[in-house]
Amino acid sequence: MAIERTFSILKPDATRRNLTGAINALIEKAGLRIVAQKRVQMTRAQAETFYAVHKERPFFGELVGTMIAGPVVVQVLEGEDAIKTYRGVLGATDPAKADPGTIRKEHALSVGENSAHGSDALDTAAIEIAQWFSGNEIVG
Ligand code: PPS
Repeated sequence: MAIERTFSILKPDATRRNLTGAINALIEKAGLRIVAQKRVQMTRAQAETFYAVHKERPFFGELVGTMIAGPVVVQVLEGEDAIKTYRGVLGATDPAKADPGTIRKEHALSVGENSAHGSDALDTAAIEIAQWFSGNEIVG
C-alpha cells in the first residue's frame, strides 16, 4: 500500500476541551505519524477559503462560525493509505452514526462540533496541506 500524506484539523470544540493529546493518541494508535503540527486561530477569510466547496450548502455559515470560534491545531499525517486510514479513525461526520473507538464517537459533540477534519482525497489533501504548511515545516 502507498505511503500518503493527509491533512487534519483538530477543531475548536476539541482544543476548548483540551482534547489535543487524546485525539493525537488515537491518530498514532492507528499507525499514522504526525509529521507537521501547529496551533493557529483561523480568520473568517481563511475558513471561507478552506471550505469554499461547501459555500452553497445551508450549513456553510455555521461551519465557518464553528471553525473560527477558537484555536485549531492543523496537522499533516503520514502513513499507509493515510487518507482512508484517517477517515476511518475520524468516524462518520455525524457522531451519532460513528463507530465506537473513533474520534467522533468518543469525543464529538454534534455534526457541527465534530472535533476533527480529514481530507477526502489525495488531490484535496495536497491543496489543504499547501494552504497551511510550507515544505520545510513538514518533517517526515
Ligand atoms: S463529508 O465528510 O465531507 O462527506 O461531510 P459533509 O456532510 O459533506 O460535510 C462537510 C463538512 O461540513 C460539516 N458539516 C456541518 N457543519 C456545521 N453544521 C452542520 N449542520 C454540518 N453538516 C456538515 C462537516 O462536519 C464537514 O466538515 P469537515 O471539517 O470537512 O469534516
